[in-house]
Amino acid sequence: MAQSSAAPVDDPAAFARGISRRTQSDIYRAGISGTRPRVPVDAGALEAAARRALSAEAFAYIAGGAGAERTVAANRAAFGRWQVWPRPLRDVSSRDLSIDFLGTRRPTPLLLAPLGVMELAHADADLAVARAAASLGVPYTISNQASVPMEEVTDAAPAASRMFQLYWSASDELNASLLRRAEASGCEAIVVTLDTHLLGWRTRDLDLAYLPFTRAMGIAQYTGDPVFQQLVRERARAAAAAPADPPAPAVRVTPKAVAAGVRIARRGSALTGSRSVRDNLRSPLPRAAVETFLEVFSTPALTWGDLAKAREWTSLPIILKGIVHPDDALRALDAGVDGIWVSNHGGRQIDQSVPTLEVLPAIAERVAGRVPLVFDSGVRQGSDAFIALALGATAVAIGRPYAYGLAVAGEAGVREAVRNLLAELDITLGLSGHMSIAELGPDALRPA
Ligand code: FNR
Repeated sequence: MAQSSAAPVDDPAAFARGISRRTQSDIYRAGISGTRPRVPVDAGALEAAARRALSAEAFAYIAGGAGAERTVAANRAAFGRWQVWPRPLRDVSSRDLSIDFLGTRRPTPLLLAPLGVMELAHADADLAVARAAASLGVPYTISNQASVPMEEVTDAAPAASRMFQLYWSASDELNASLLRRAEASGCEAIVVTLDTHLLGWRTRDLDLAYLPFTRAMGIAQYTGDPVFQQLVRERARAAAAAPADPPAPAVRVTPKAVAAGVRIARRGSALTGSRSVRDNLRSPLPRAAVETFLEVFSTPALTWGDLAKAREWTSLPIILKGIVHPDDALRALDAGVDGIWVSNHGGRQIDQSVPTLEVLPAIAERVAGRVPLVFDSGVRQGSDAFIALALGATAVAIGRPYAYGLAVAGEAGVREAVRNLLAELDITLGLSGHMSIAELGPDALRPA
């Protein structure tokens, strides 16, 4: 029998204290009645459970990486080059997982990374993730490619700590509009992702010929945006006035193509103002929305000089995500950013690229505590988070593990996956002889 998942939490700060003992006790006590965790604790078993819960396309999109997926493997292997060095006979009976991040005390050192298209994992998508994050006191980064507009995510968990992640679009008006909406939605910071100015060579998705955005999935931030809507109307008007020359190759009419067409039409209601599938099928706007998105999604022409524009668009703190070179970290400081997010997008962009953990110490040394350092890519368990924190990360962001939790058990699944990571982090902290995250440094580790 599978255990019903972790219940919502009223007081995240209190929840973080003693989380490991409570989690173990809940799981083992349920085991007496023959109940096992619905969301597997083991990272490999969690991924396997998500695979069973998802379509082949959805699982490939979430789990996959670039090329031969050597960066995905290298991200994981990098943790194996460090060992936790225990120091017993220190009083660790009370442990403090809290950190300072962007001027606020947070109950835990974890963040949820931005993950697009979470409707692939569960119908509640970003709403479920936002609620789970709120109940754990873990800040959530709303993706530019979310399945739900940021305003609805905010309504689902109004008291939660959230940031907005921007893919720098080819339209500056659209960028400015997205950031205005993020401010109005109470986001605490803007995370500008720098490593996706071209879509990575995603082998699994290519072999399945599957990109969710072409089916109007993961473009809710756009279709609900007034500037984007204007771009779509202009495009539809221009197409009506001057049909494409040469015309776009026709999509072969198959049952799958019809289903995709209906889905695109349904998603078009924000543009057409009609909920009727028939109206939306007749309107050129839903299809024009997908085409406009594909055109403006990201710009490969972005350079350091452009970053100043973001300062004009928003007064929120700006964090650069996708920094993996120490020189770029220094350059980011020169540009006056408020945070650096060391990430290789979970190995989804370049094959055989730099594993983030291997460059974290050098980046931490250059940054020297002047701005917070977020770390991600390859974190699968609490001991991984411990290693990253010891090597200089201020906070650790989780990606795929929470998507897998979402796939297996919705909101409760996200909560349980993140709770398990926190519990193992808490135990590793205590068993290694540390009372707080603040105490962690390279001397907590030994090269393997
Ligand atoms: C991502 N990531 C990502 N990053 C971003 O800045 N915006 C986005 O919309 C997305 N979307 C997205 C979807 C999916 C399915 C995955 C797996 C990843 C990258 C993400 O924020 C993070 O950097 C990685 O997921 C971290 O690596 P791990 O923890 O998944 O190994």
